[in-house]
Amino acid sequence: MTTTHYHFQTASHIVSGAHSLELLGEKLDLLGLSGLTSIFILTQPSIVSLGYADQIKRKLEKKGIASEISTEIKPEPTEENIEEVFQTFLKGEHDAIIGIGGGSVLDAAKILAVLKTNDQPISALIGTNLVRKRGVPTILIPTTSGTGSEVTPNAIVTFPEKELKIGMVSPHLLPDLVILDPALTLNLPKSITAATGMDAFTHALESYISNKANPFSDMFALESMRLISGSIQEAYHHGKNVKAREDMLVGAMYGGMALTSAGTAAVHAMAYPLGGKYKISHGVANSMLLPHVTAFNADHIMDRLENVARVIGIEEAGSKHTLAEHVIHQIEEWTADLHIPQHLKAFGVSKEDVPALAEAASEVKRLMDNNPKQMSVSDIEQVYMKLLDA
Ligand SMILES: NC(=O)c1ccc[n+]([C@@H]2O[C@H](COP(=O)([O-])OP(=O)(O)OC[C@H]3O[C@@H](n4cnc5c(N)ncnc54)[C@H](O)[C@@H]3O)[C@@H](O)[C@H]2O)c1
Ligand SMILES: [Fe+2]
Repeated sequence: MTTTHYHFQTASHIVSGAHSLELLGEKLDLLGLSGLTSIFILTQPSIVSLGYADQIKRKLEKKGIASEISTEIKPEPTEENIEEVFQTFLKGEHDAIIGIGGGSVLDAAKILAVLKTNDQPISALIGTNLVRKRGVPTILIPTTSGTGSEVTPNAIVTFPEKELKIGMVSPHLLPDLVILDPALTLNLPKSITAATGMDAFTHALESYISNKANPFSDMFALESMRLISGSIQEAYHHGKNVKAREDMLVGAMYGGMALTSAGTAAVHAMAYPLGGKYKISHGVANSMLLPHVTAFNADHIMDRLENVARVIGIEEAGSKHTLAEHVIHQIEEWTADLHIPQHLKAFGVSKEDVPALAEAASEVKRLMDNNPKQMSVSDIEQVYMKLLDA
């Protein structure tokens, strides 16, 4: 399962802890960024309503840095949406970018930063290692505990005409500064806490069982699963619990660090067509698929599932098979408790749609190749079918 060569990369500077947003000005000085003239603040309407974007604007004013707030990035943004917002970014002549919000905004901020310096359209940069130059200085502040985008070299773009989501992958997408402030996540709605939290858990589990799993990724993946399994239900039921929110935020970041080194696998490959065509949110698609894909993989990853069982607090002894079943059962229990949909019918998917979905998922080779057990198109179809049975 482990490869001989393994790699790790992450953001240059990370600060964490409740109210760490207060340290923004100090960190700009430290990183030699206080001479900037104007920063584009890319965010989401909910973050503006909560007052966080204005808080940043005022902090920048104190440093003599102008700023413009934009909320034009849509959840799970398309190429067209990002290109449009890029025109606003260019007009403002900003020399840096702050992304504060969920993965959609963080990914878009990373893309805008490199669009500004590379002089090429998104279509030319989509794929692996096609970005040639680093972007303008980028600061990322996650407000969901899910994607880990703040520490990954990936940015995901939705292509509606292809009914697919495709990744831009480059070390140049890694930001200069990350601020992990759990206080910003206390108002995260329950359904988003649930879906994004399960996305983060999926990153950790998939990295841990990936063909590219290695000592670096294992460390982050196991700690990510320990933190998330210990806090996801508390964060969902008692959203104002700062400790649970902090564990979720750090756990999600570790998930991002793990996937950067080991990659995600079949769950993510199969989730992309569900997001691209049926607008099922990324976290919900992953949560639905995770138990079924884990069951498919189980006989190839028994030893690994034993360790997963241990870190997520399953202590019952038994045959290895029983432990694997326990892990799957535990994931199903979480998703039920977190009220995450378990069935594709609710999203207008029918059995006739399955061959096209399976074909599209099998095309996501970058991730399918990481899966510990090879999946044929017919295997993929059978897993989708499980989400339409009953
Ligand atoms: N770059 C990566 O490595 C990576 C990994 C996984 C997923 N992704 C991508 O990230 C995107 C999904 O990101 P996401 O799951 O974080 O969701 P999101 O960014 O789409 O946000 C979901 C919703 O939550 C709201 N929201 C965010 N923070 C909030 C807060 N603190 N309080 C209240 N509301 C808040 C947003 O306004 C939005 O409506 C997808 O496009 C997915 O493909 C990227
Ligand atoms: Fe994900």
